[in-house]
Amino acid sequence: MRTTVGIIGAGPAGLLLARLLQNAGIGSVVLESRDRAYVERRQRAGILEQGTVDVLRAAGVGARMDREGIPHDGIELRFDRRRHRVDLPALTGGRSVMVYAQTEVCKDLIEDRLTGGGPLLFEAEALAVEGAETDSPRVRYRHEGREAVLECDYVVGCDGFWGVARTAIPDALSRTYERTYPFGWLGILADVAPSHDELVYARSDRGFALLSMRSPTVTRAYLQVPEGTDADDWADEEIWDELDRRLEVDDPGWRLARGPITAKSVTPMRSYVHEPMRHGRLFLAGDAAHIVPPTGAKGLNLAVGDVVTFARALAAHLDKGDPALLGTYSETCLRRVWQAERFSYAMTTMLHRAPDATAFDDRIQLARLDRVTTSRAAETDLAEAYTGFPF
Ligand code: FAD
Ligand code: DHB
Repeated sequence: MRTTVGIIGAGPAGLLLARLLQNAGIGSVVLESRDRAYVERRQRAGILEQGTVDVLRAAGVGARMDREGIPHDGIELRFDRRRHRVDLPALTGGRSVMVYAQTEVCKDLIEDRLTGGGPLLFEAEALAVEGAETDSPRVRYRHEGREAVLECDYVVGCDGFWGVARTAIPDALSRTYERTYPFGWLGILADVAPSHDELVYARSDRGFALLSMRSPTVTRAYLQVPEGTDADDWADEEIWDELDRRLEVDDPGWRLARGPITAKSVTPMRSYVHEPMRHGRLFLAGDAAHIVPPTGAKGLNLAVGDVVTFARALAAHLDKGDPALLGTYSETCLRRVWQAERFSYAMTTMLHRAPDATAFDDRIQLARLDRVTTSRAAETDLAEAYTGFPF
């Protein structure tokens, strides 16, 4: 098989890239190792930045998001038994975010691709990217029990942190930056209306908690848990009890509503960046190149930024014969990536309690929260980063 752009991975990065290229009249083939049901059910991110919402709309795949997504103009920071609302549009000149789950973004993009006719192969596992330094890179893959080759002009590795694309960049040219955290997130879905109409990010002496939602009738919530925790070690009532304790405030009007828990899983937390994001005609996008801890809700949004940058650059090259943007792809993406890394790290360390935290560390966290909630400049900095840096 032959195509202009071989895309490895049908997560948000690969699927959106296929649509952006199609809009620009550029052909592509998407290879995805898992089956459709798996990709559509994998519970992950929930918050779309303003820029992501704008891109999905402009690409022509935002109709259901606009009907069913929940626009949010604020988030709540909770600490020291206090509540503080961050008014996002007031601090950012009108920018806000949307609650619309990654599962739904992927469902919309898969439906669009399959009805739009572009090739999207499920259960097609890329084995290796070859010839990245040549004008005709190839992806070797396995599909329906047979090995095959996808001949391309360009290959984009959108295959996540555990994918193969990154391994085609020689070690001698790669630089990696990494930090792991001694905790993870236990995430739940529950059939109960969200207890608050905006997201609540809570710092407590018992650790971090996040109250989110998927719809007016479905709550999504997370608890900081020790690294290596098994989700099944937590009984449902224990999870609700712990959320209750970590969300405690001096506000008689506050009550956490409980309901049946329908899903439970643990996510490890890591910061990781691979530089460069390009080698010859192989480009990396999304989690294949970088990971952020989820506290800033940046992972999915960064993936969108990368593929928008690539699609623009390739269109400029093929339409106008201008290779400059392709040449600067890695630098352009990495600038935004490092801002998201900085913000996600700052949010994580401000709100989570490390196992070896001292009383001094606790005071510093409270001082940082005090600063963010009393200085308009500090709060604006948080709101700008949360709603997203420009693509
Ligand atoms: P992915 O979504 O990982 O997609 C990569 C795709 O490539 C997958 O479908 C995979 O099956 C496929 N693939 C892998 N290897 C191959 C191969 N060899 N051949 C073919 N296909 C391959 N972000 C948040 O903002 N908030 C969250 O709460 C949050 N929770 C997360 C929970 C987990 C468990 C993980 C792993 C991530 C979470 N993230 C979260 C991050 C966010 O979901 C990711 O940043 C986002 O999915 C990145 O999209 P992507 O398309 O780059 O990669
Ligand atoms: C969700 C996940 C996040 O990482 C976050 O910061 C906010 C919300 C969510 O899954 O709803």
